[in-house]
Amino acid sequence: MAAPSAVSALIPAVSSRPPDLEAILDINRAAYDLLAGTYKGTTDIRQENAKKWLSKRVPEITGPEQPTALDVGCADGTHSRVLSMLGYSVTGVDFSAPMISAARELMSDPTLPNKPSLLHGEFLAGRYTDEGGAAASLEGRRFHLVLATAFVHLFPPEADDDAVRKVLGHVAPGGTALISTTAATANRQGLELKTGANGQVAPRWRNHYTLEHFVWLVREAARDVYGARVPVQPWVVVDPDVEGKLWVDVVVNRPA
Ligand SMILES: C[S@@+](CC[C@H](N)C(=O)[O-])C[C@H]1O[C@@H](n2cnc3c(N)ncnc32)[C@H](O)[C@@H]1O
Repeated sequence: MAAPSAVSALIPAVSSRPPDLEAILDINRAAYDLLAGTYKGTTDIRQENAKKWLSKRVPEITGPEQPTALDVGCADGTHSRVLSMLGYSVTGVDFSAPMISAARELMSDPTLPNKPSLLHGEFLAGRYTDEGGAAASLEGRRFHLVLATAFVHLFPPEADDDAVRKVLGHVAPGGTALISTTAATANRQGLELKTGANGQVAPRWRNHYTLEHFVWLVREAARDVYGARVPVQPWVVVDPDVEGKLWVDVVVNRPA
């Protein structure tokens, strides 16, 4: 994450060496393994919020062709399920085994019209296993909609740029990316403790971006990937559950 303004690294406090990506991914994976139960326990309420929010934000389905969607960092599958109910053919990916198994359980609902395909694996590496345990790849796959909510802020410097570029690269020409994070008053980053239900606490890497910085990050990545400046539309949303917390949804349309 090269910055238009100074970004202070809070951690590691004892070393000025840049954080090691693999180590951070391991820390983050362990955190989300631990938090999977908390996500599972709050699926219903998050799904109600997501229905209202996603139906406003994602493109309306107009043509006869069933559109495709990729949900990057799908966790317990809440957003994948909502997208499926909205009519998308959905692929969800996540590197936490308990999260992907919670997502698969959620999709076992027989009333769900088109079940999402849920892949287990790390997004930057791009190697996955499917429900049957077979190797799967998204290499070269493009989707009408790519969702990456509360995701790119989990990568350390430079890897967050890579994550945004990879998200944008999966968008089909004429398609849409929806990338979200929280809006901060100043950029900061480091390992932070995340608390789950039952008081479980786990450290995980977290970048906090100002609205201006996050829009810049996505705009620069879009210019790299699409070879042109494209409009990047930010929407600021008040968190329905946490007072004073603001989310930024950034919508990018890939030129047709
Ligand atoms: C903060 S949660 C967000 C979940 C969901 N997108 C949402 O908005 O509610 C981040 C999810 O991304 C997954 N994740 C984080 N880093 C990942 C990576 N490098 N590859 C694949 N999944 C990752 C985590 O396991 C977790 O389930």
